[in-house]
Amino acid sequence: MENQVQKKRIFSGIQPSGDLTLGSYMGAIKNWVAMQDEYESIYCIVDMHAITVRQNPADLRRRALEQLAQYIACGLDPQKNILFIQSHVPQHAELGWILGCYTQFGELSRMTQFKQKSQQHADNITAGLFTYPVLMAADILLYQADLVPVGADQKQHVELCRDIAQRFNGVYSDTFTLPVPFIPQMGARIMSLGNPENKMSKSDPEGCVYLMDPPEVIQRKFKRAVTDSETAVKFDREHKPGVSNLLTVYCAATGKTLEEAEAEFSGQGYGVFKPAVGEAVIELLRPVREETARLLQDKAYLESVYREGARKAQGIAQRTLAKVHRKIGFIAR
Ligand code: TRP
Repeated sequence: MENQVQKKRIFSGIQPSGDLTLGSYMGAIKNWVAMQDEYESIYCIVDMHAITVRQNPADLRRRALEQLAQYIACGLDPQKNILFIQSHVPQHAELGWILGCYTQFGELSRMTQFKQKSQQHADNITAGLFTYPVLMAADILLYQADLVPVGADQKQHVELCRDIAQRFNGVYSDTFTLPVPFIPQMGARIMSLGNPENKMSKSDPEGCVYLMDPPEVIQRKFKRAVTDSETAVKFDREHKPGVSNLLTVYCAATGKTLEEAEAEFSGQGYGVFKPAVGEAVIELLRPVREETARLLQDKAYLESVYREGARKAQGIAQRTLAKVHRKIGFIAR
């Protein structure tokens, strides 16, 4: 009776280039937790992607470990999911090189994120920043992932990954599973508290809430959240982006529906609404923050998780890489 249905495989990753935010929790990790029984899931801390822009070494190290602790604290079970650090699995770099030889310069030049980031880092436009989507393709294809949950901003990269896979399969016969980008709807887009037209970003400290922010900081950020000059707590993305974002956050934090939330605050101004959202988020994040802090005290445990994760990941990745080597004509090691 075992194994009647092969579970579909998920791969995703987050860069340890900034501390995790409420946006990453509500938009990504929460969904990963909800999917962990139904799928075979592999989640990666993509430190090799993070160095495409300059990182402070001590911060990078701290964030990678903290991110692992946060994945677990948010409810990702290391027994059910493979959790690992990208640089611990050398097959990513190896396949990345090969796939770069099947990717056109023109394709990479068209990537929106490259254009944006090369403007932001005009003094340091590296080859790594340019070939970043190739490494991301290697991440996904090594594991023959079916689904790749990502934010809308990463869809173009997953589509490029599909194109590369399809091209390779066309030349050498079926080698890679074609992945599908998977963009969760609910809570997928948490916007900046300071500028609700933009996605909440870890590089905008006042507009985002970090998972490790203490309660008083969270409350301050919500009290200062940008709203509008009206008074009604109503959902209207177009005309009331700030209030709508706060309602989204409130519903995601409490499990209430939009109608329930609007009814709860009807007749009450933003002076009541904003701190209530802050309070809901404080209560949502409290166990995550406390559990993360506890796990970070237990370095031996975290080490055992990422070592075991890398071992399992390598098992899968090496199978794909060996197949690729054979197909392109490399002599077996
Ligand atoms: N590029 C992704 C981001 O910045 C992170 C990432 C790297 C990723 N490799 C991946 C996401 C593979 C999904 C699958 O958000």
